Amino acid sequence: MATRHASSTTASPSSPITSSPEASDGSTRRELLESYGRLGVGLGASALFPWIPSSALAASRPSSDAPVAVLGARGKTGRLIVQQLLAEGKHVRALSYQPFEYDAKKDLPVNVDLSLLSYAIGDVTKYDTLPDAIRGSSAVIFASSASKKGGNAQAVDCDGVENIARAAISEKIPRLLVISSGAVTKPDSFGYKVTNMFARGIMGLKLEGEDRLRALYRSSAPAGVTYTVLRPGGLSNDKGLGVNGLELNQKDTIIGEISRNDVAAVAVHAITAPEAADVTFEVYEIGRRTPLQPEFPKESGMERRAEKWEDIFKGLVKDQDLQRA
Ligand SMILES: NC(=O)c1ccc[n+]([C@@H]2O[C@H](COP(=O)([O-])OP(=O)(O)OC[C@H]3O[C@@H](n4cnc5c(N)ncnc54)[C@H](OP(=O)(O)O)[C@@H]3O)[C@@H](O)[C@H]2O)c1
Repeated sequence: MATRHASSTTASPSSPITSSPEASDGSTRRELLESYGRLGVGLGASALFPWIPSSALAASRPSSDAPVAVLGARGKTGRLIVQQLLAEGKHVRALSYQPFEYDAKKDLPVNVDLSLLSYAIGDVTKYDTLPDAIRGSSAVIFASSASKKGGNAQAVDCDGVENIARAAISEKIPRLLVISSGAVTKPDSFGYKVTNMFARGIMGLKLEGEDRLRALYRSSAPAGVTYTVLRPGGLSNDKGLGVNGLELNQKDTIIGEISRNDVAAVAVHAITAPEAADVTFEVYEIGRRTPLQPEFPKESGMERRAEKWEDIFKGLVKDQDLQRA
């Protein structure tokens, strides 16, 4: 994997750090490994020990400095996710289908430790790029969506979700979180119709991607390898309200706007929440909630609100139990 680091003392986009630590300055492999450790560089163990089969590494518990891999890291929400993870002192591997680098002053939080950030290529339309890109990470966040150069909704929002689910299962990543959309299961709703019209069938394709992911995890994910599907309402670029301004729900009958900042915060907290494992849920601002269709009840009965992040995921119903209900 060609992983690059953000620190000015490390590589530029044109000079990738390869996965095999070569002693170009004459230092020994051991010295290099030790210095990587001291820097707390966010490489997966397999990148540091490329001679060990990745399956053996991935099966072991990720270390506390294992990075969170973010697909679509150049996007509006992806970038906020990276910012928030870095601000919390987490290691981040920013992934895109083509080489890129943030403008540290403009794009990243002030005083962030740049040695926590690395870059790699991860194209969700090309399965072969994904296992290397996510190997050794503690979680993967899929914030990708169709774009002019990256691929259409079929390739990115549908097949791309299946690709990352396969890769995350094969690499035994503890949690894959996919950002989908509210209203995907309600083709008669206004939200579904309007979004579909502007984005060429994206809603049905997002749902198909979700369904394929859930089926794959049901049939082939080993214990401890889990997913979360996050369905936000319409996105804004507002500052965000924080946890006590938000509501989670699970029947896809209530919708409302939410800021990308809050979606990023929900994603960042959900990847470590045991209650969000193997769960699909909607999220929107409490003050903007409304039934998705006029005939739907005002409450679904599955609303979740909380004052603290560690509480808001409590009580979410696992997808397998929801289907039986
Ligand atoms: N807009 C809304 O109101 C709304 C409502 C509900 C849900 N959502 C969903 O929320 C998510 C985030 O939305 P957003 O507006 O923040 O997204 P965005 O800015 O459009 O970002 C999507 C990112 O995906 C990247 N991408 C495209 N093709 C890719 C590929 N083949 N491999 C990897 N990455 C690829 C894009 O790269 P480039 O830009 O560099 O090409 C872009 O950085 C999306 O899934 C969206 O559908 C949006």
